[in-house]
Amino acid sequence: MAKKEDIEKQIERLRDEIREHDYLYYVLNQSTISDRRYDEIFAELKMLEEANPQFITLDSPTQRVSEQPLEGFANVRHAVPMLSMDNTYNADELRAFDERVRKQLGVMDYDYVVELKIDGLAVNLRYERGKLVTAATRGSGRVGDDVTANVRTIKAVPLVLRGGDIPVVLEVRGEVYMPTSAFAELNKLRTEAGEPAFANPRNAAAGSLKLLDAKTTETRNLSFFAYATGELSEPLAENHYQTLQKFKEFGLPVNPDIKRAKDINEAIDICFSWSEKRLELGYQIDGMVIKVNHFDQQDILGATGRAPRWCISYKFAAEQAETIVESIDVQVGKSGILTPVANLTPVQLAGTTVKRASLHNFDELNRLGVRCGDTVVIEKAGEIIPQVIQVKKELRPAGTKPFKVPKECPNCGSEVKKDESGVYVRCVNPDCQGQLIERLKYFAGRGQMDIENLGTALIEQLVETGLVKNFADLYKLQKPDLIDLERMAEKSADNVIKAIEAGKTRPLWRFIAALGIRHIGGQSAQILAERFGSLDTLMKATQQELADIDQIGPTMAESIYEYFHNPKNRAVIDQLFAVGISPQQTTVRRKGNLAGKTIVVTGTLKNFTRPQIEQAIRQAGAKSSSSVSKKTDFVLAGENPGSKLDKAKELGVKVIDEKEFLELL
Ligand code: IVH
Repeated sequence: MAKKEDIEKQIERLRDEIREHDYLYYVLNQSTISDRRYDEIFAELKMLEEANPQFITLDSPTQRVSEQPLEGFANVRHAVPMLSMDNTYNADELRAFDERVRKQLGVMDYDYVVELKIDGLAVNLRYERGKLVTAATRGSGRVGDDVTANVRTIKAVPLVLRGGDIPVVLEVRGEVYMPTSAFAELNKLRTEAGEPAFANPRNAAAGSLKLLDAKTTETRNLSFFAYATGELSEPLAENHYQTLQKFKEFGLPVNPDIKRAKDINEAIDICFSWSEKRLELGYQIDGMVIKVNHFDQQDILGATGRAPRWCISYKFAAEQAETIVESIDVQVGKSGILTPVANLTPVQLAGTTVKRASLHNFDELNRLGVRCGDTVVIEKAGEIIPQVIQVKKELRPAGTKPFKVPKECPNCGSEVKKDESGVYVRCVNPDCQGQLIERLKYFAGRGQMDIENLGTALIEQLVETGLVKNFADLYKLQKPDLIDLERMAEKSADNVIKAIEAGKTRPLWRFIAALGIRHIGGQSAQILAERFGSLDTLMKATQQELADIDQIGPTMAESIYEYFHNPKNRAVIDQLFAVGISPQQTTVRRKGNLAGKTIVVTGTLKNFTRPQIEQAIRQAGAKSSSSVSKKTDFVLAGENPGSKLDKAKELGVKVIDEKEFLELL
């Protein structure tokens, strides 16, 4: 039998060997031995420890997972508070941050460190004499939860640090995160088991760290990146970058994409370079972090109660998100087309909460293969409408069925027909109330007649009570009619009538657009208004005359012609004239500062809504475009401008603010 000392030495040797492999694999991403060989060494260690329990120590790789579940989490008071970080969303805000830094540091030179902002949760790891003693969540910033048992299961977190010169007390801060592959795998298992899926890897990581049974946490494949220090018994380095190098020497995982930047411009370039590359990382980041490198300078800059003044985050707009399709509705549109719409588990996307997404048509629904219960990736198209772009089939719960194309209109119950193209399914009942509601909503909408106070709920009531059967009926409404409706006080009734009246003097193009003629939106309506000057002349135009207009193709021409030659439509238009609708053609300027220019608008304006600014641009003889290119003459930037502003700067396109725009007008 081997001597006790020999056994102890052998145990230590096996532990070191396993630690070395863990370090190579989980920290450096290198694989040097086969899984099988690793398992053999691990089994050997386990066997020796079981036979000699007196040698078992908590820092052994076999002791990562505690057998005993916790009853609850103890509190941990952070020796150094864990602060939060201020956010920025564009280059201007980053430059403003740099200005503040420059002002406070005076003549001093300074540089930055730029890091990925890992989308997980912050933890504080306390090492004493190189051994992990506690791991705590950020919690309130002053007091967090003791999640040591769970953090110990994360193989990227060393239980024992490597190398020499380790401070007696070393607190390491960093992010616990769930790699995308682990997240997909976990959600697949959960849905198969009938458990709710996690909305994103951050929630999954947080949920996994807050489990009482570490054995479950172990299965979650969490990982970790170190990026800061907490309490230190002695200084580690002079600056942040050196600190990260020390972390690496200690065997801690440090993100490989950390860079130094000599000034803010370099830092901004690095930030922007990740806006697309980030999708190729095996984990989610929600932005970038810029830190003043030198600790002396960090000290001068200090902190507000909430966040340090020496660092800032640059947040990417979350343009894609994952969520679950809870149900699929079918809606009838203003021309009778049936559109499937997905009701989603609410999710944050580019600054708003998204609950619904259009699936466009049944062809698209089939192409995507969306079913109720599916996990889907949604994206914002043109910054506004969320779209489903992908179904995560691997996460599909058992027992789901393909969605069936309806055979009848969900609103009026009439039989439906396939459009000539075969893509659209339509309700062809001319008296379908669902269609009428949609037509009225569009008529009253902001880009058309812009009738304030005439919202969806009121329109529904007006149609359902039979008070309104067409556009003209809106103008015949009397106060007593409205007061009889649900939730309608005298004052609101007055406001509704006033708002409807105010719509009577809208320009001709708005009226043309409001009719909801198929294929004719605001822009084509403007062209028609300009060309014909009055509704009468437009109604008399031949199909050929219409098709001859630049930007009005044969399909539009046919649609316009058919609309005005439909006796039912003509009757409604006659009634509209009779109630005093007098659409006016406003003249478009052919000269002036903005004539012939192409303008892109981004952000919120003080004096204009979107339709209003577009109208103003057109009336000034300019063109409004939705994307910035070299051909753009100006970008008009309001408050909270989007990526278009960055694009303009990148291409050297002139940027003007609202005041300058008004002056040019
Ligand atoms: S430094 C006081 N560096 O972002 C700031 N934080 O929004 C010290 N985060 O609570 C933290 N990646 O959870 C830092 N490279 C990084 C980070 C990072 C992600 C998280 C961290 C923090 C939050 C603030």
